[in-house]
Amino acid sequence: MKKKIILAIESSCDETAAAVVVNGREVLSNVISSQIDIHTKFGGVVPEVASRKHIEAINIVVSQALEEAGVTLDDIDAVGVTYGPGLVGALLVGLQYAKGLAYSLNVPLIGVNHIEGHICANFIQHKDLKPPFVCLVVSGGHTFIVHMKDYGEFEIIGETRDDAAGEAFDKVARAIGLGYPGGPKIDKISKQGNENAMKFPKANFHDNSLDFSFSGVKSAVLNYINKMNMTGEEINTADVAASFQKAVVDVLTENVIKTCTTRDVHKIAIAGGVASNSKLRESLTEAGKKRGIEVLFPAPILCTDNAAMIGSAAYFELLKENVAPLDINAKPNLRL
Ligand code: KG4
Ligand code: ZN
Repeated sequence: MKKKIILAIESSCDETAAAVVVNGREVLSNVISSQIDIHTKFGGVVPEVASRKHIEAINIVVSQALEEAGVTLDDIDAVGVTYGPGLVGALLVGLQYAKGLAYSLNVPLIGVNHIEGHICANFIQHKDLKPPFVCLVVSGGHTFIVHMKDYGEFEIIGETRDDAAGEAFDKVARAIGLGYPGGPKIDKISKQGNENAMKFPKANFHDNSLDFSFSGVKSAVLNYINKMNMTGEEINTADVAASFQKAVVDVLTENVIKTCTTRDVHKIAIAGGVASNSKLRESLTEAGKKRGIEVLFPAPILCTDNAAMIGSAAYFELLKENVAPLDINAKPNLRL
């Protein structure tokens, strides 16, 4: 079969991204324009600002992706684009741009689920990886344990009932004065802290479910900070960060390993921004080693929001002839 060159676009949150990907695995270019500096001023992503910044950046980012890949629009076989979940105004910028391109080039438009994109980052990193495997998707907006049975075929085994893992990292970081985005900062400062200094709670559900809850641990940290502030005692930020991180990583590791053992799966792939976390990588690798389970991670650049992962997911959807109509709408609450 002739190779398929996909131009992919991602604009679901605060990164405007475009990439050129061949056959779902080979990345010719992966351009990301981050809006992080502007949102940092507000302590988090401001949706209206995000949409405006996407509009300013998208043309430049797509042109750069084509140039870096050494291709022209005439070489493109399909346009892949994230249509959900995400911020509706942000999604619409990428989606409308992609529709215009697909229509004018007369090539298929492929609508991609952002969460599926995160999972597919692993196909780029690990060229021989094939389903089935268990995937832990942990980002600023999502926390899922997914059994990926085949390409594009998912069973959700567990998900968060409140905050996403990355959201908890960001909120705790803000509370202990580390700023936004909190995940990488907690990861870094935790290396100097004692992770057993405080015991923050892990949520366990009594219904045997492998769901998560991170609002309890987040509240426990906030209560601890308030108490220390009231009594005037000094807060050891590194200890708080490390103890919080341990509580989150322990429950993520436990539930993912449980999923593998109960379903007899011997491969785990991690995805999403929190997959960059060094403690999570270490903990899962160690737990996997003890049980003969292989644990795979994408490089950090493929963990965070990017369009290469969207190009990979689009390829597998294209193979299934899952082509989107040109009136496809953005779906802010799209599920896997
Ligand atoms: O996947 P992503 O870039 O965007 C979403 O789709 O949400 O994930 C961003 C999230 C943020 O919450 C950020 O704090 C978190 O990933 N993150 C981390 C680390 N790097 C990024 N969390 C923990 N440790 C890290 N090293
Ligand atoms: Zn994401």
